[in-house]
Amino acid sequence: MGDKMIKRHTVISIFIHWFNAVCWIILLLTGVGLISNTDLNPIGTWWPEMMRNMFGGGESLLWIHVICGSLWIIVFFIFGISGIKGYTIPFIKEILTFSPSNDILWLIKKGIQMTLGYKVMAKLGFEPRIPDQGFYNVGQKMFAIPALLGGIVIGLTGIVMIASKFYVINQAVVQWSILIHFLVVGAVFAGLLIHVFMASIAKGELPALISMFTGTVPAEYAEHHHKLWYDEAKDQVD
Ligand code: HEM
Repeated sequence: MGDKMIKRHTVISIFIHWFNAVCWIILLLTGVGLISNTDLNPIGTWWPEMMRNMFGGGESLLWIHVICGSLWIIVFFIFGISGIKGYTIPFIKEILTFSPSNDILWLIKKGIQMTLGYKVMAKLGFEPRIPDQGFYNVGQKMFAIPALLGGIVIGLTGIVMIASKFYVINQAVVQWSILIHFLVVGAVFAGLLIHVFMASIAKGELPALISMFTGTVPAEYAEHHHKLWYDEAKDQVD
């Protein structure tokens, strides 16, 4: 099998993933800079002050945040609708497909293996084989679902907030939108820290990160990490 490669991501899905990542970074940096309530700001007042100085005040910082957020919503909307059959529905189906007994055991074993290692896993009475997974493992699905739903909620609450600058909107709706926007960003961000750790630092995951640029993974990696998908896709090995 050696250096045989297998197709994992299309150019479009790679583009949309990195577009999303860049937007998230800009939106997080500018968004945290917009929080003027000192009790709410997770990293203190120095960041908002620095961002406001850098961009010439809160108003221009807000507009950078709004323009980036609008672009993010528009691109995702077009991508989601135009790729409804090719990407959107298959992706949603994939992240919503679970096999509870297999997946729970995967979470337990993978957790022990990554933190304590195979030796402790054996001492605890588990055999070393980690249950087989499909295109995404259950950990990835547990991030992808809140990332997708959270993205929708963040987008909708953002639209309410910006619309309230131009139209008269019930104040309670606007206040709830601000709170929900803030809390959901925090929740997705917590998952994002694990996602980025798994993608960039975790041992053995480098082929997945490289595939987010090249579109392919070594067949050996696919068989080891995503056996159920590999069994279906192995005919496409180059
Ligand atoms: C710079 C930061 C990021 C890095 C290094 C990164 C890395 C990766 C990698 C390597 C994959 C492919 C996994 C595979 O093929 O098995 C992936 C997939 C994915 N990424 Fe990211 N990503 C980043 C930012 C984001 C952000 C900001 C989001 C959304 C909030 C996101 C959402 C996803 C989703 C939904 C998938 C597909 C499911 C999954 O693998 O979890 N990523 N990412």
